[in-house]
Amino acid sequence: MVYWVDIILLQTESFTIAIFIYLTYISFTMGQEKILKNIENMTISAKEKISQCKNILIVGHLDADGISSTSIAKKMFEHAGHNTDYLIVKQLDSITIKKAEEYKKDLTVFVDLGSGQLDKISNYIEDNKIMVLDHHQPSKKEHPNILLHLNAHLLGMDGSREISGSGMCYLFSRYYLEKDEKLQKELEKIAIIGMMGDMQLRDGAVGMNKQILEWAKDNNVVAIKKDICYFGKQTRPIFKLLEYATDPIIPTISFNHENTKAFICSYINPRDNDNFWKRWIDLKNEEAQKITGGLIKLFLENNNGNANFALKQLFCDTYQFLDEAKGTEFRDVMEFSTVLNACGRHDKWKDGVELIIGNRDNLPTITTLLENHRRCLANSIDIIKKAKIKRMNNIQVFFAGDTIKSTIIGTVAGMALGARILDRSIPVLAVSNDPEDSSFSKISGRGTKKMIFRGLRLNDAMNLSEKFGGEGGGHDIAAGCRIPNEKMDEFLEAVDKGIGEQMKNG
Ligand code: C5P
Ligand code: C5P
Ligand code: ZN
Repeated sequence: MVYWVDIILLQTESFTIAIFIYLTYISFTMGQEKILKNIENMTISAKEKISQCKNILIVGHLDADGISSTSIAKKMFEHAGHNTDYLIVKQLDSITIKKAEEYKKDLTVFVDLGSGQLDKISNYIEDNKIMVLDHHQPSKKEHPNILLHLNAHLLGMDGSREISGSGMCYLFSRYYLEKDEKLQKELEKIAIIGMMGDMQLRDGAVGMNKQILEWAKDNNVVAIKKDICYFGKQTRPIFKLLEYATDPIIPTISFNHENTKAFICSYINPRDNDNFWKRWIDLKNEEAQKITGGLIKLFLENNNGNANFALKQLFCDTYQFLDEAKGTEFRDVMEFSTVLNACGRHDKWKDGVELIIGNRDNLPTITTLLENHRRCLANSIDIIKKAKIKRMNNIQVFFAGDTIKSTIIGTVAGMALGARILDRSIPVLAVSNDPEDSSFSKISGRGTKKMIFRGLRLNDAMNLSEKFGGEGGGHDIAAGCRIPNEKMDEFLEAVDKGIGEQMKNG
């Protein structure tokens, strides 16, 4: 108390700032406590009914967060004595819901999806019991045969930034399971992979993500360190780390093999005693500093108006799992989550779940898969660079047809926005053919944080697809839909108008 009084006497202005920070902190922690209490109460009320369901089907989304969510659900329900089976789907539509129904389990648990399709789920799975753990925008509040619906937004969290699907599964597990420290740590680890996979850590953790990371840090699950943001610090030789750098793109270096090598050699000896190229983790502190100093110089020297933005993007919090061996794809959370995305988006989601659960027998396949995923992304970026972009009033549209897989087109569109290959002032809609139905197209929408401040709500825009015989959903910053080809033009007009309305005051 004396401390506060001293501040009042000494410096009124700093006192006001200190009080503001203190009050913000208090209201933040009180908010978190209230949310956790609600989750606890809801879980405990549903616990008996859930416990009676011996056989459970888990339905999850195919990306890193969906695979992580599925793995948490599988681990926790098996630990609690249930039998589990799981199904990973590209999206939750009538066909996939029908497939889930055919499993005829006592309980179907939807993870990292479901909140936007409560009506559909309830109509199809009439006699089955249902539970939803999700962070997407919900379509409706409640439904009679849903035993439990834990949704980030309905609980007062921003599901695009503050918590992932895997985070929701983890929070449920804290109150569903009897206390088991070893298991809780394993589940915290998986929750972190999911939040990274959904790109919620790119600008630093906030909200419940931050809380989960703090628990995990206190439990020695994860170490957090400020470092350069680039992908592959554990596994890639440094020339590859920099040559493949896209977020941010390094002037004169990215995609230029010779320049990259010359740049590195001008600062350090890049080879180790066995004459192999060092990885970022092999560099001594002073070597890493020389390289980062060189990078900063490059950004400043080639300043085309965005050096500040690029320099801000260059450094971030990085996360390492302390139980994983250094130099593997599993030590760095960014690399681990990319492995899962590679699995999920190239039809190897079972390998992804197995990897998390602890079965690493299939590692050689995974390494090839990762290289294939990288090549697919690089080729797709080349395609976007050369493509004609349809510019409307408030959106830009890119038609990929069959040239980019529908499962990776969203990732590619996000990368192209990040790398400024596309215009960062308006959202992008990337269109590919729907591989399951040639009369439909799949659309992936991506925006930026700045657009969100200006009012962008891509999920609302994608929900317009229902009026045109499609189905969609997602987050404000990243959302998607399926749309009948014959309705494409009308739909794009409606989205263009809708997004214009959303951002008109921004
Ligand atoms: O279905 P789910 O919520 O897991 O997917 C979220 C998607 O949104 C991911 O593909 C993620 O990469 C993307 N995303 C993004 N930019 C953000 C946040 C999320 O592209 N800032
Ligand atoms: O497929 P894509 O990565 O573009 O998806 C972005 C977000 O939109 C994800 O959170 C995904 O779950 C959601 N989405 C959806 N319904 C669709 C397509 C995507 O809810 N039909
Ligand atoms: Zn998710």
